[in-house]
Amino acid sequence: MNVLILGAGGREHAFSWKISQSPILGNLYIAPGNPGTAQCGTNLAIGVTDFEGIATAIRTHDIGLVVVGPEEPLVKGVRDFIESQADLQHVGIVGPGAEGAQIEGSKDFSKNFMHKYGIPTAASQTFTKDTIADGLAYLQQQSLPIVLKADGLAAGKGVIIALTLEEAETALNEMLLDAKFGDASSKVVIEQFLRGIELSVFVLTDGENYVVLPEAKDYKRIGENDEGLNTGGMGAVSPVPFANEKFMELVKQKVIEPTVKGLKAENIDYKGFIFIGLMNHEGEPYVIEYNARMGDPETEVVLPRIESDFLSLLIAASNGTLSEQTISILDQYAVTTMLVAGGYPEEYRKGDVLTGVEKVEDAIVFHAGTTSKDGDIITSGGRVMALTGTSNTLERAIQKSQKAAQTIQFEGKNFRRDIGLDVLRYGM
Ligand code: AMP
Ligand code: GLY
Repeated sequence: MNVLILGAGGREHAFSWKISQSPILGNLYIAPGNPGTAQCGTNLAIGVTDFEGIATAIRTHDIGLVVVGPEEPLVKGVRDFIESQADLQHVGIVGPGAEGAQIEGSKDFSKNFMHKYGIPTAASQTFTKDTIADGLAYLQQQSLPIVLKADGLAAGKGVIIALTLEEAETALNEMLLDAKFGDASSKVVIEQFLRGIELSVFVLTDGENYVVLPEAKDYKRIGENDEGLNTGGMGAVSPVPFANEKFMELVKQKVIEPTVKGLKAENIDYKGFIFIGLMNHEGEPYVIEYNARMGDPETEVVLPRIESDFLSLLIAASNGTLSEQTISILDQYAVTTMLVAGGYPEEYRKGDVLTGVEKVEDAIVFHAGTTSKDGDIITSGGRVMALTGTSNTLERAIQKSQKAAQTIQFEGKNFRRDIGLDVLRYGM
C-alpha cells in the first residue's frame, strides 16, 4: 500500500522512519516533509492545509492511506474534504474529522465532553465577552493558583496559570476584551489548578476498539529543572515510572474507555490518535487536555518502543479492524533530546549550517526544523532535531541521546542536559 504522511516535523520523520520498515509498504510520500523524511520516502511540496493539492497527490500516487501529523489540517477538516471526494472513498485516513478534532480545537468542547461522560478533569466554567462580569465574579470565588485557557488553538500558548487574583483578572480581560489570542480567546475556560505529576497517554482507535501505545513524559520548559518559557517540547522519555499497571488500569477504566465510548455516543466516527495529557493527582488520573494527534517530541520515543508493524495498526484503525490487532511493546527505554535554535522559543536564528549527523552512531536522528540548501542541511525552525537513544537501561538511553546532542553542531545550538534525570531519580 502507498502511504502519504502530512507534516514536516520530528513527529513526521518518526512516522516515516517506522512506516518505512513495514513489509506491507509500497511507496511512502510525505507532504511537505523535511530532509529526514526524504531518506525514508519521497517529499511532495504540498502544504498540510492545501486540501486540493493533497487530493491530487492521493490520485497521482495511488495513495491507500493518509496519516495526518499536525492538528491544523484536522481541525480545518482534511478528513472531511477527502471523504467528500467521490473517487477517494477507498482511501483510509488516520485522524478524525473536524468534529472529532474539536477535542483539541476547542477546550470548551472537550471540557463539556468530559463533564458529560464523567471523565475525571478539573472543575471548570466557560465565559465569553458577554458573560465577562460572571467570569470576574467566578474568579473571586476560586482558590489560587487558577488556570485560564483560550478555547481555540493558540500554538501552545493559550494557557495561563495565574498565581494571584489580579493576574487572573488581567488575563481574563485581555483574552476576552483585547483578543489576546485572537479568535481563539473569544471563549475562555477557567479551571481549577491540579497538583501532581504529568504524563501523556496515546491511544489509537478505530472508533470502537483501541490500542494503547507506550506512554511518555514531555519536558516543556526551555531551561533545565523546568525553568523558563514554555516550548513545544525539549525532550521526552518513555516509559514513565509511575505509569505502572495499577495506574494504567485506572486510566483505561476512567479515561480511555469513556472517551472512546463517549465519542461514539456523540456520533463522532473517530479514527485516529487520541493524545491524553494527564495529571497523576494522588494516584488518580485527571485529564488536562486532549489532542487529536500524536505528540511531538513524544512520538520520537513512543515509536522506537513499538515492536509491532505500525503500518498494520494504522490501516486497521482506518478501516475499523483494530479488534483483530494487538500491539507488542519493547521492554526498553527511549529518551529523546531536542536541539533548538538560538533564541527559541522567542525570536530565533535560522539558516545556520548543521553538521555532524554522519558522526552519530548510537542514536536515531529525527529531523524537525531543517531544510536542504546548496547541498547543506540548514536550520529552518525553532526545534531543529530530536536525538533518540534506546537501551535496556534508562541511564544508557539518556547517555546515547545526550552524546548525539553534543555531536551535532550548528551556530546557536541549545538543548537541555537534564532530560530523563528526574525519572532516573524516581528510582528506575
Ligand atoms: P495545555 O495547553 O492544556 O497542555 O496546558 C499547558 C500546560 O499547562 C499543561 O501541560 C500543564 O502543565 C498546565 N496545566 C494545564 N491545565 C492545568 C491544570 N488544570 N492544573 C495544573 N496545570 C495545568
Ligand atoms: N509535546 C506536546 C505536544 O505535542 O503537544
